[in-house]
Amino acid sequence: MANSPSGDSVTERIVRILETFSADRTLQTVADIGRRSGLPSSTAHRQVEALVEAGLLERDDDARVRLGMRLWELALRGSAALRLRQAAMPFMERVQAAIREHTQLAVLEQDEALFLERLSSPDSGANITRIAGRLPLHASSSGLVLLAYGGVELQERVLTGPLARLAPETITDAAALRRTLADVRRRGFVVAPGSIEAVSTGVAVPIRDASGEVIAALSVVLPREAPTAAALEELQAAAAGIRSALAADRR
Ligand code: PHB
Repeated sequence: MANSPSGDSVTERIVRILETFSADRTLQTVADIGRRSGLPSSTAHRQVEALVEAGLLERDDDARVRLGMRLWELALRGSAALRLRQAAMPFMERVQAAIREHTQLAVLEQDEALFLERLSSPDSGANITRIAGRLPLHASSSGLVLLAYGGVELQERVLTGPLARLAPETITDAAALRRTLADVRRRGFVVAPGSIEAVSTGVAVPIRDASGEVIAALSVVLPREAPTAAALEELQAAAAGIRSALAADRR
């Protein structure tokens, strides 16, 4: 790849531009993109123009820029995340219909829980999760499951901290987190009240592929004091169903 005078490759510049977009920042001016990417203004303008022409970025009527549908299309094509989501959806719908609270599917991505899907009904309670959004591993039920089965290297990195307190009951003590992770592995699920929001309890189970490896977490977000047994039972049945669906899909 051709390098700029500052030494970064075209690929690095494109990544820096794409990474200025977040779940909360989906529309930006080119000037904002330039500033946030740290690229010289002329470089940012030129590069954004090329990405718009390629369809990876799109411009709205006010000349602000958003991520393009073409990027979504390419990213999903053949993606393991899409295959997992498709296998999981019928089972997630069953959980959601039975429990009528938020049901969500997350995978481990760069030391965070990345949410691939979330089903809700109008009467579901509070939930800060967003599709294609992330939550910290130590401070969400899905994150705790992904961390518990994520391997020693990941666990040590997260345990080293800092473990930010996002709600009164977030586990911020490394020894307590270590105990919780061992507990998750022993019991095969987690019930996490007030971990990221004082008003909610997250219940999560691991999703395994045909080989038994944990590849995702399935969770339900309940009102803080709601009973958890029925949700847990539904989640465990769904996890077994998803595992079978993934195994059948492989044949
Ligand atoms: C959780 O998984 O623990 C969780 C996620 C989102 C919320 C509350 C709890 O809003």
